[in-house]
Parts: sequence; structure tokens; C-alpha cells
Amino acid sequence: MSSTSQNTVPASRPMSYSRGEISTFVMPHMQNVLGDLFGGHLMTLVDQAAAVAAIRHAGAPVVTASIHRFDFRDPIPVGALVTCMATVDYVGRSSMEITVEVFAENVRTGERRNTHSAHVVFVAVGKDRRPITVPRLIPETEEEKARFERAKVFRETHPRR
Ligand SMILES: CC(C)(COP(=O)(O)OP(=O)(O)OC[C@H]1O[C@@H](n2cnc3c(N)ncnc32)[C@H](O)[C@@H]1OP(=O)(O)O)[C@@H](O)C(=O)NCCC(=O)NCCS
Repeated sequence: MSSTSQNTVPASRPMSYSRGEISTFVMPHMQNVLGDLFGGHLMTLVDQAAAVAAIRHAGAPVVTASIHRFDFRDPIPVGALVTCMATVDYVGRSSMEITVEVFAENVRTGERRNTHSAHVVFVAVGKDRRPITVPRLIPETEEEKARFERAKVFRETHPRR
């Protein structure tokens, strides 16, 4: 995945800057044999929403490094509006810990459910595809500070490779 912007990247960004959101109707060609959204299709949407957040924060091209966790709690029926909301919760030198929450909405009734959650890691890369430094992440609200602390503890207790 890549960003076309060549703008100068700041040393830090607030957490709220990089929030990424993707919405789409679940169409018949996206269904599994039970008539619900196919899991692989949802993973694509989650990866895309996370990429939006990662590219926004890094101001640079990014790659998916790992999908640490993907919880499938509730099926999403054909006809629902599915929304994937991604937040950058913590950053290292080049990597970004990202949470994606998935919501399914019955647009006619307004009923909305949080059906899936995912935790993914993206890494910002330069033209040579080697990792590059990303801006520091600044949590501002109490909710953001709590998210930042949770992600920091997660990273410290889950060493890479
Ligand atoms: C992700 C990638 C750039 C890391 O390269 P690398 O040579 O292992 O880099 P390093 O060991 O220097 O690690 C760089 C950062 O990535 C993180 N990282 C590397 N592998 C990781 C993994 N499997 N899970 C989570 N983070 C990982 C490291 O913790 C490090 O973080 P930091 O800079 O914040 O401390 C490289 O493995 C790659 O290009 N993988 C393929 C990505 C891909 O094809 N994705 C799908 C298409 S977008």
C-alpha cells in the first residue's frame, strides 16, 4: 500500500489525526455459503482501514507486518452497512499498533452492532522498502491515553519474532 504525498512529515502527530474509516454495503457477491459477509472479504476491509490510519500517521508508504488478532463475534448479513474504524494506538520506531473495530448497521432501523475487533501492526517503509521512522504518537484525551497505555503494555509483553 502506498501514499502519493511527498509532504514533510512532522516529528509527532496527535492520535486523533490518523483515525481511518471505511464503509460499504454488504452486497450479494460478498457473501459466504450461509448468506453472511465472507470472512476473507472483511479481512480485506479491515486491512484497508488500518492502512488508511497507518499511512495518515506515517505520511509514508506502509506494509502490513502482522495481524495479531481477529475476533469474529457476530455474522454480518447481506444488505448491512459495514464500517471499519481504525486507530493508531501506539508506535515504535517504524511500526504502528492499530486497532480496528467493525460495526454492522441495519440502515433502515438504525440498529448498529460492534461485530468484530482486530489488532494489526503496520510498518512504514521508504523507497527501498526498508523500515523508516514514524512520528511520535500523542494521546490527548483520557480515552486515548488509556488506549495508548494498553497498547504499550501489549507491545512490551508480546516481543516480535
Ligand atoms: C515488515 C517488514 C518491513 C519488517 O522488515 P524487517 O527487516 O523485519 O525490519 P526490522 O526487523 O528492522 O523491524 C522493523 C519494525 O517492524 C517490526 N516488525 C517486524 N516484523 C514484525 C512482525 N511480524 N510483527 C510485528 N512487527 C514487526 C519490528 O518490531 C520493528 O518495529 P520498530 O521499528 O517500531 O521497533 C518486512 O518484514 C516486510 O516487508 N514484510 C512484508 C510485508 C508485506 O508484504 N505485507 C503485505 C502487503 S502490504
